[in-house]
Parts: sequence; C-alpha cells; structure tokens
Amino acid sequence: MTVNILIVGAGAVGAFYGSRLAVAPNTEVSVICRSNYKAVSEAGFSVTSPKYGSYTFAPHRTFANPREAIESKISWDYVLVSTKALPDVSDDSEILEGLLDTRRTSIVLVQNGLGVEDPYTSRFPGVTILSAVTIVSAAQTEPGVIKHNRWTRISVGPYLPGTTEESTTKSHQQAINSNQTFVELLRAGGIADADAYSHSKLQMVRWHKIAINASMNPSAVLSSGTTNQAMSSDPELFRHLQGVMEEVLSTAPKVLGTPLPSEFATPEAILNSTKKNNSGSKPSMLLDWEQGKRMELEVILGNPIRIARAHGLEMPRLQSLYALLRMAQQNRDSAKGESSRL
Ligand SMILES: NC(=O)c1ccc[n+]([C@@H]2O[C@H](COP(=O)([O-])OP(=O)(O)OC[C@H]3O[C@@H](n4cnc5c(N)ncnc54)[C@H](OP(=O)(O)O)[C@@H]3O)[C@@H](O)[C@H]2O)c1
Ligand SMILES: *[C@@H]1O[C@H](CO)[C@@H](O)[C@H](O)[C@H]1NC(C)=O
Ligand SMILES: *[C@@H]1O[C@H](CO)[C@@H](O)[C@H](O)[C@H]1NC(C)=O
Ligand SMILES: *[C@@H]1O[C@H](CO)[C@@H](O)[C@H](O)[C@H]1NC(C)=O
Ligand SMILES: *[C@@H]1O[C@H](CO)[C@@H](O)[C@H](O)[C@H]1NC(C)=O
Repeated sequence: MTVNILIVGAGAVGAFYGSRLAVAPNTEVSVICRSNYKAVSEAGFSVTSPKYGSYTFAPHRTFANPREAIESKISWDYVLVSTKALPDVSDDSEILEGLLDTRRTSIVLVQNGLGVEDPYTSRFPGVTILSAVTIVSAAQTEPGVIKHNRWTRISVGPYLPGTTEESTTKSHQQAINSNQTFVELLRAGGIADADAYSHSKLQMVRWHKIAINASMNPSAVLSSGTTNQAMSSDPELFRHLQGVMEEVLSTAPKVLGTPLPSEFATPEAILNSTKKNNSGSKPSMLLDWEQGKRMELEVILGNPIRIARAHGLEMPRLQSLYALLRMAQQNRDSAKGESSRL
C-alpha cells in the first residue's frame, strides 16, 4: 500500500524531511509550494548534505497552491506542516481546509516553539495530530535548493492533551500507531535518530528545545548579531543565557506536572559546548531579523510566557526579552510601512 505524504511549507525543513521520506519504500511525497513553485515544478529540489550527498528530490506531485492539492483527490496519510509558525501573521491551519480525510490523515507539525498545535486541534477536532521537534540545521539558499548543514534528529509524538499515557480509546490508539509508522518511515529514509515519544515526553522535549531557542535567539538579535559561540564566551552573557535557560527549565516541570528527564543537558553543559563549537551559523531568528522578516516570537517567547501565566507562574527574564524584541519588531515594521509586513 502506498503511503501518500503531502508537505505543506516546502522550505528548508519540509523539503529536507520530504526528500528523506521519499526514499523510504512505498511512499509518494508531494509538495505544496509557494515562491519556489516555478523552480521546483521545473527541476525538483536539489539537496546537498554532508550525510546523504547531493541528490535531486522530484516530488510525486508539485502543487502551486492548496486548491490544486484538493483537486488531485489524493487521500493523504500524512500532511506534514513545516511553515514558520507565525500565529501573529497567519493561521496556517486554514491551508489544510478540505485537504484532510479525517479518518485517515494524520497532521504532522514540524515546527519549533510551544502551542503550535492549538490552531490545528481547534480547527480539526478529532483528527490525529503528531507533534514533532527537530534540531536539524538546513536552509533554502535559493528557490528549490536545499542545503542540509548538519544534524538530523527529529522527535515525534502523538498530541493527546489531557489524556493519560495508558489511554486506549480508538482515536488514541490510532494516534499512537500513526506515530510509530511515521517514525519508521523516517528511519527507512535514513534518519537514524528519528525517535517516537509519548505525548508528555514530547512536550518536555519542546520545553527543553525552547530553553535554548528562547535564550540564544532573542539575545543574538538584541546584542546586534552576536553568534552563539561569542555570546557563551562572554561572561556576562553566559550568566544571562544560563539564567534564562534555568528559568525555562524550572518552569517546565511545574507546568507539565512531571520532572524533566535527567538525561536532558543542563544549561551549563549546553553553554560549555556552545563555547567550543564554532559553527558560525546564525540562528534563524537573527536571519529573519536581518532580512526584515517576522520572527517566530510568539511560539518561542510569547506562548511559553502565557502558558506559564495560566499556571500562576511568571518568567521575568523571558518576559523582558519578549517585551523588548516584540516592540523592536513593531517599530521596524511601522517604519517600513504596512506594505512590506508580510
Ligand atoms: N531551518 C532550520 O534549520 C530549522 C531547524 C529546526 C527547526 N526549524 C523550524 O522549522 C519550521 C520551518 O522552518 P524553515 O527553516 O524550513 O522555514 P522556511 O525555509 O522559510 O520554509 C517555510 C516554507 O513554508 C512556505 N509557506 C509559508 N506559508 C505558506 C503558505 N501559506 N502556503 C504555502 N507555503 C507556505 C514558505 O514559502 P515562501 O518561501 O513562499 O515563504 C517556505 O517555503 C520553523 O518552525 C523553524 O523554527 C527550522
Ligand atoms: C509512540 O511510539 C513509541 C514507539 O515507537 C512509543 O514508545 C510511544 O509510547 C508512542 N506514543 C504513545 C503516546 O504511546
Ligand atoms: C563547564 O565549564 C566550566 C569551566 O570550564 C567547568 O568548571 C564546569 O564543570 C563545566 N560544566 C559542565 C556541566 O560541563
Ligand atoms: C560541535 O558540533 C559537532 C557537529 O558539527 C558535534 O558533533 C559536536 O559534538 C559539537 N561539539 C561540542 C563540544 O558540542
Ligand atoms: C533554534 O536554535 C538552533 C540552535 O542554535 C538554531 O539552529 C535555530 O535556527 C534556532 N531557531 C530559531 C527559530 O531561531
């Protein structure tokens, strides 16, 4: 049986994982493109990777917009969403209207941050949702050209808020089976460190990941473009970053109701290794800032703060970063004028 996979948001992350899923047995991977439609429809994606070499990923179908994907009448097993999560700009769950076979399709969200699942659970109650976090480093350097830099790890879990681990209703069982199959497909596509997690463990992975992103990324922008290595080598910034990470990692267990696993790296260990690692690469929030694009501020900073507040908790260090950077973005955009907001 063919597994039909649709990638919505075929940029760096979507096209990279799509290209790996496409080499797993019995898969057909299609994409909805936007600004890269012309390039991809003519020549597919050209991927370079230190791990997988150079290859072309020719999608099974390349759609110019969601309407074409609906008109294809393909019944999707997985719809993988890897747009940037910008709830302050657009509700991308809207793209999936009319695309889902609610008894068959699983939505797979491959996006950073917290609360990215909410728009999908509200719009599509009862549809299986898999939540995924990745540490891959990849970029679309020109339309249809994907440069995989390093790392491949992706952590996937069924999104089952308000249920216990042992829940065995039919829809939960479907989510759990779907989670296992999707991870097996990624592994068959050569992603050896694709791992399946339970709902609650995956949310812990999300919090741990934002400890890094919510400290490093806004600080890189607010310190006018300092690299992670340079920040962690500066004693005052080291203290600042460690303070933010500790704030996030001490809040997470109170919100989630369970301690974080002891195998998660501590802030000091993360910063020590950042000090030694001269990757020179800029976090995507800094790249977005430099290119005048909207940053993923709400899912990386705003949502964690609001989720904590709903539990009666404040995160003052994170709140300061959020308030300052949000206003910096607002001032930048009003200076540019409404026309270039999107
Ligand atoms: N890149 C990384 O190394 C990395 C690592 C870890 C996590 N992540 C996370 O992965 C997610 C995706 O990031 P990314 O780097 O892959 O971003 P990206 O390269 O900008 O890709 C996003 C893609 O989504 C497309 N898109 C957005 N809205 C769309 C719409 N309405 N219809 C059709 N296509 C649409 C964009 O098209 P346009 O080009 O037309 O805008 C773009 O091709 C983010 O949450 C990010 O934080 C990224
Ligand atoms: C997802 O699959 C993995 C095994 O691949 C399993 O350990 C995990 O518990 C599953 N998720 C849930 C909610 O059971
Ligand atoms: C981090 O580096 C400092 C200074 O080199 C060292 O004292 C400390 O033990 C290291 N901590 C961890 C967790 O690696
Ligand atoms: C530095 O990055 C490389 C990947 O390029 C990784 O394998 C290595 O573990 C990192 N080193 C440290 C000290 O974190
Ligand atoms: C999150 O952090 C990683 C590691 O520093 C970085 O590669 C990635 O670009 C960051 N994401 C954002 C949205 O800045």
